[in-house]
Amino acid sequence: MAKIIIEGGNKLSGSVKVGGAKNAALPIMAGAILSEGPVVLSNIPHLNDVETMEKVLSALGITCKKLGPGTIELSSHSGISEEAPYELVKTMRASFFVMGPLLGRLKKARIPLPGGCAIGVRPVDIHLKGFEMLGARVSLDAGCAVATADKLVGAPIMLDFPSVGATENLMMAAVYAEGTTVINNAAREPEIVDLGNFLNSMGAKVSGAGTPSVTIEGVKSLTGTNYSIISDRIEAGTFLALGSLFEGPISVENCNPDSLHAVTAKLQEMGTDLKIEDSKIIVRGPTRIKPIEIKTLPFPGFPTDLQAQFTAALCLSEGASLITETVFENRFMHVSELIRMGAKLNIRDRTVVINGVDKLIGAPVMATDLRAGAAMVIAGLVAEGITEIGNVHHIDRGYDNFVDRLKGLGAKITRQEQDNHA
Ligand code: EPZ
Repeated sequence: MAKIIIEGGNKLSGSVKVGGAKNAALPIMAGAILSEGPVVLSNIPHLNDVETMEKVLSALGITCKKLGPGTIELSSHSGISEEAPYELVKTMRASFFVMGPLLGRLKKARIPLPGGCAIGVRPVDIHLKGFEMLGARVSLDAGCAVATADKLVGAPIMLDFPSVGATENLMMAAVYAEGTTVINNAAREPEIVDLGNFLNSMGAKVSGAGTPSVTIEGVKSLTGTNYSIISDRIEAGTFLALGSLFEGPISVENCNPDSLHAVTAKLQEMGTDLKIEDSKIIVRGPTRIKPIEIKTLPFPGFPTDLQAQFTAALCLSEGASLITETVFENRFMHVSELIRMGAKLNIRDRTVVINGVDKLIGAPVMATDLRAGAAMVIAGLVAEGITEIGNVHHIDRGYDNFVDRLKGLGAKITRQEQDNHA
């Protein structure tokens, strides 16, 4: 298992380019199943999760070809299988995004239920209820969700929770349904808008993506397309959280400030100086960040995917901060790791109480999930002494070339590939 070793305390400054959005790439790659023509996608990040999705699509019979850095071509010839392999789906929940397009195109799908993960049980009940409301017969068989339909008929669907994945799966299932589907209480994340734009670029008729009510008019067929995905707002927010701890300046480039309003507002409350331009944000941290309160919410609220990173940064604030996690039931796995570095944290129900300390001390710690891993890197970069982070495969799922880009900002950071026999 690889590990990351950081010698903390270096001053960081410079510029870093944000990559394509993982959480836009994954549903859009699954959406290629709907197209009868080849789909060329660019600005695709080089991540383990993208490779896993490519394997899932290959297993279904979709040809995946690399056309160049960040550009792939997906061709869904006839003879697509409706069944995704368990050994792949269990490694990445987002594999479940193939269920909607398979049901939409083939009127049948058999997908292993994705396991839970470190941050929660992660059920798919909202997805399955939506498929039934489109006319599918849904059952569970040997750990798989099975959906079949003679035809899909557009319908009004009310989501119990604005689930990102359920909104995306149902948008894709509804593309070929007869008539009009309206998804109410839909998720409003920028990745939903990107998926809607991608589907429309193939000839779908999606409107209202990014609002609580998404309308899909059924069509008969879709063409291929050439589509570039949006930049990763969570990666941008990760670098901004890091930047709040250093004088900098750190210029976070290729980002979309419009998708980060909740984040930049909190950074300014913390006392950071932000220069916000069209596609970059230049951050300068204060001598010491101020304590704040954060509550994670569905977009446009503060993103749950930045909760761990901001928890790490606020360990060094000058007072007590509160962060409440309302989206997932167990997203505090990083708290005990931060305590190992001298942070003063305790958890009350779904709120972590952060009593700011003057410094963190480097220590051997573990990445427990993707964003918690990023939080440990932030803590290590600002801590005194050496921090070793194990299980960095979690970080590889969502951050491309993380170590080299941090080196580019002046970090003393290396990655050690440990052979498995060690
Ligand atoms: C997406 O996951 C993201 N993943 C997550 O990012 C992100 O944290 C999450 O949305 C929330 O923004 C991808 O896009 C690949 P949800 P998703 O359905 O779709 C409950 C990262 O770090 N729920 O919006 O799985 C669920 O348990 C990852 O990049 C149901 O109860 O999230 C959770 O408590 C982590 N039933 C809440 O809704 C359902 O059928 C939000 O889940 C579906 C969800």
